[in-house]
Amino acid sequence: MTSPVTYARQGRIGLITIDNPPVNATGQAVRAGLIDAARAFAADDAAQAGVLICAGRTWVAGADISEFGRPPQAPFLPDVIAAIEALEKPVVAAIHGTALGGGLELAMGCHARIAAPSARMGLPEVTLGLLPGAGGTQRLPRLIGLMPALEAMTSARQIPAPEARELGLIDALADGELTAAAIALAETLAGQPPRRTRDLPAPEADPAATDALKARLVRSLPGQIAQTTAVDVATEGLALSFDEGMAVERAGFLALMDSPQRAALIHAFFAERAVAHLPQIAGVPPRALDRVGIVGGGLMGAGIAVSCLLAGLDVTLLERDQAGADKAAATVADLLAGAVSRGKLAAPRRDAILADAFRTATDHEALAQADLLIEAVFESMDVKRQVFAALDRVAKPGAVLATNTSYLDVNQIADATSRPRDVIGLHFFSPAHVMRLLEVVVPDRAAPDAIATGFALAKRLKKVAVRAGVCDGFIGNRILAHYRAAVDAMVLDGADPIAVDRALTGFGFAMGPYAVTDLAGLDIGYMTRQRKAADRHPRDRVPAFADRLYEQGHLGRKSGRGYYDYAAKPPVPNPDLPALLEAVRADLGLTPRGFDADEIVARTMAAMVNEAARVVEDGTALRPLDVDVVMLNGYGFPRWRGGPMHWADAHGLDRILDDIRRFAAEDDHFWRPAPLLVDLVATGRRFADLNEGQSA
Ligand code: 3HC
Ligand code: NAI
Repeated sequence: MTSPVTYARQGRIGLITIDNPPVNATGQAVRAGLIDAARAFAADDAAQAGVLICAGRTWVAGADISEFGRPPQAPFLPDVIAAIEALEKPVVAAIHGTALGGGLELAMGCHARIAAPSARMGLPEVTLGLLPGAGGTQRLPRLIGLMPALEAMTSARQIPAPEARELGLIDALADGELTAAAIALAETLAGQPPRRTRDLPAPEADPAATDALKARLVRSLPGQIAQTTAVDVATEGLALSFDEGMAVERAGFLALMDSPQRAALIHAFFAERAVAHLPQIAGVPPRALDRVGIVGGGLMGAGIAVSCLLAGLDVTLLERDQAGADKAAATVADLLAGAVSRGKLAAPRRDAILADAFRTATDHEALAQADLLIEAVFESMDVKRQVFAALDRVAKPGAVLATNTSYLDVNQIADATSRPRDVIGLHFFSPAHVMRLLEVVVPDRAAPDAIATGFALAKRLKKVAVRAGVCDGFIGNRILAHYRAAVDAMVLDGADPIAVDRALTGFGFAMGPYAVTDLAGLDIGYMTRQRKAADRHPRDRVPAFADRLYEQGHLGRKSGRGYYDYAAKPPVPNPDLPALLEAVRADLGLTPRGFDADEIVARTMAAMVNEAARVVEDGTALRPLDVDVVMLNGYGFPRWRGGPMHWADAHGLDRILDDIRRFAAEDDHFWRPAPLLVDLVATGRRFADLNEGQSA
């Protein structure tokens, strides 16, 4: 087998090239190849300096993550980097693309660094539940100072090359072609002793600053261990000799490697990539995608328009009348202004977008040239069918017609057209220009290349797309409706909504369910309950307290009061809520009882996992990992727990099934074990077993 690392010489410069697509990760073959190439370079008397460079789209993007969790295989990356650093002749790292994790650590083991101006570099290990494990905690502070290094490794930020130059992380920006610039730099170093990062003085400790940083991390990332461990390991090691510091780092890295958080975060990393691998669209090219038409410029339509504009797409937005169009245009301009003020968009670029790439219209004909049409009008089947019939008349052949419906049957919407093959659901989340999740809803007759276009759009918008089958609520909202019902039932039976929020944020959710309701508006849930009232089963439990709050005019944040009172800063629990709950329970003849945080979490998670199992079983989600990606990216599920299905496997499916059966003793209408869950427990399998062999 040929090695992914080669050695060659150009004049008096030795060239070591790593070629390991797609991202030059340092798998075992690369590590072994680097040792061999370093030996060849050392033995080549004609080479007086070296250049280490990567083929393909990027410099080394890190250790090979797929090797984590398996028995490590020699040579180990810290030893490979030590061997390069120990060379007697200087080696220049020539960086393009992204130098991440072990990739940046490898570059820091070289004796000089030069980067393409577009390159970025960072230590993102904490996002995988790890800390830099190949010298990053000890070499980065020696190059850029203690606090900038700790900030970089705890934030996982990608540092642009010009900033890296200012920080002293790299020595030069390449002027022109990278290889030539790196060789020129190596020529200036030829014959000189190598400058080894390990020999630079370690920065002084700064206990006040590191304690402040740790306190901030504990506050902003509750429950997560990698970030604070990285600070501890780096500072402890820097107080020792370099080799002792490396031993401290290794021990910390291996301890985190064994942590459930590492397993969960790496599951999330691969799950977010696996969702795009669908047998149905394997090898199917997407349709052309340059011009987008959006129907409805309310909350969602305007956000979708901005998301598309920021990705460089051309957008025409259709409203019912000129007043609606003007309002939508103003919303779009406001959202773009927000992007400018947050530094995400340059003002001249915003001006160019508004002048050339965006327009509103009130006549469907304006959508005739669009490659993709996204409908975001009111959530009403009649209105949506009328819109699709109109789009069917004007859209060009081959245009993809998409609906942003939250719950409605996309098959029925497709039937309103003469071209159901071109119709899909594209379920964005609010705010659409911020939230990363996109559910691509696949009705029965959708053509594979229409589906592939939905996935291509997500990639273009830097979102993560998950395929969902047609049902009420698709993957995410359907699971949400179910666990919200469990949460509301606890409140009916005596739980305090504020304590429910506290228990679930304690578990790691970004927000508690009642704070979320206040944010979305109590009117949304009220309307949904009204809409579904006719189909309600007599044993379904209705959150009468939510209806009463709504009827009293408390809509949440937008009216100033809901479960919380927003007149206070920060908001406090609504002081009238306990009396309202007491009255509602009395009306219903319920005797309240207490729920501690453990029971709140157990019931919420059991409901979530049970419904998620049904969602997988009936094919709404292709695999358990698709559910995890939806809940992580659209519903604030803690990433370090990997998603509900990963969490359930780790927690024990048998324990969850026992809980469901125990809860069923009180309410066997709501608590019915999903057959898939029962089957997995009976056969000793896990959700993870269903992820395997399903990808294209
Ligand atoms: N190991 C193994 N596979 C990797 C990988 C890695 N470090 N990084 C990316 N890949 C794979 C992806 O799984 C994907 O595979 P697929 O095509 O089969 O789905 C493929 O490479 C392309 O990746 P992306 O789709 O993410 O490509 P992008 O161009 O969007 O992004 C990237 C490229 C910015 C490099 C991004 O992949 C990334 O952030 N990778 C992870 C970087 C990272 O976390 N590095 C640190 C690793 S831990 C470490 O180094 C420990 C050390 O300190 C000892
Ligand atoms: P909205 O009420 O803010 O906006 C709807 C817009 O559509 C209004 O501006 C209205 O003038 C326009 N409109 C109505 N009929 C039209 C027609 N025939 N032609 C052109 N424009 C028309 O509603 P919102 O919240 O933006 O929701 C839109 C859709 O997105 C709904 O289907 C909703 O279920 C879905 N959705 C909403 C989310 C949310 O958080 N609000 C999240 C995800 C999906």
